[in-house]
Amino acid sequence: MFGRLAATRLPEIRQIFRQAPPQTSRSFSTALNYHIDTPDNNSELPWEFSNANKDKVKEILSHYPSNYKQSAVIPLLDLAQQQHGGWLPVSAMNAVAKVIGVAPIRVYEVATFYSMFNRQPVGKYHLLVCGTTPCMIRGSREIEDALLKHLGVKRNEVTKDGLFSVGEMECMGCCVNAPMITVADYSNGSEGYTYNYFEDVTPKRVVEIVEALRKGEKPPHGTQNPNRIRCGPEGGNTTLHGEPKPPPCRDLDAC
Ligand code: FES
Repeated sequence: MFGRLAATRLPEIRQIFRQAPPQTSRSFSTALNYHIDTPDNNSELPWEFSNANKDKVKEILSHYPSNYKQSAVIPLLDLAQQQHGGWLPVSAMNAVAKVIGVAPIRVYEVATFYSMFNRQPVGKYHLLVCGTTPCMIRGSREIEDALLKHLGVKRNEVTKDGLFSVGEMECMGCCVNAPMITVADYSNGSEGYTYNYFEDVTPKRVVEIVEALRKGEKPPHGTQNPNRIRCGPEGGNTTLHGEPKPPPCRDLDAC
């Protein structure tokens, strides 16, 4: 069925591919897929959890059986990333490996698999644009373009003042309010770390959010569409205006 449909629309499909812009390089959602030693990122540099975070490490480990400490790898990497201003140098990954008693490669495997872990510096505000299909159909490419143009950076590059970087994330479970971005805020260390969703954004609105953050303001997160309440339909409910009627056979006296 699909084959027959595709065959009848072949000329149209060919035309679409002819019009597609040439792909010069693949765009990855994470910046780095390998490690090369640099002066600010090598295993000789000391790294340990801060005193406050050592207590958090104990608390995280207490959620797992003592012979399954390695299960804590993701929350510990997350804590390390928050402490280190939003990224994970190799020495932080090694410190996590030591805490959970595994070979460092076990931690590298996790940190390189999940795009939430950054392995190169990010801005104090790391802006993550959802690039998955529902957000893409609703304009996420224009959102990303607006951010990159306004900040004068490429994807995964940090602005000169160190304040902002723009990355891509896959579906963050908020498709009903697509397109959306997340702001990972590392400006107040791991104590003040926040990870907020801004939904129903437009190119103009994301630039306003950036400028508000630059001024130290806290723009309201959630939907940015004033005509919606959370995930409700724009303009109010379209169904369920009153008490729904029960199924006909529930009124046993009337049956
Ligand atoms: S596709 Fe963007 S939140 Fe699901």
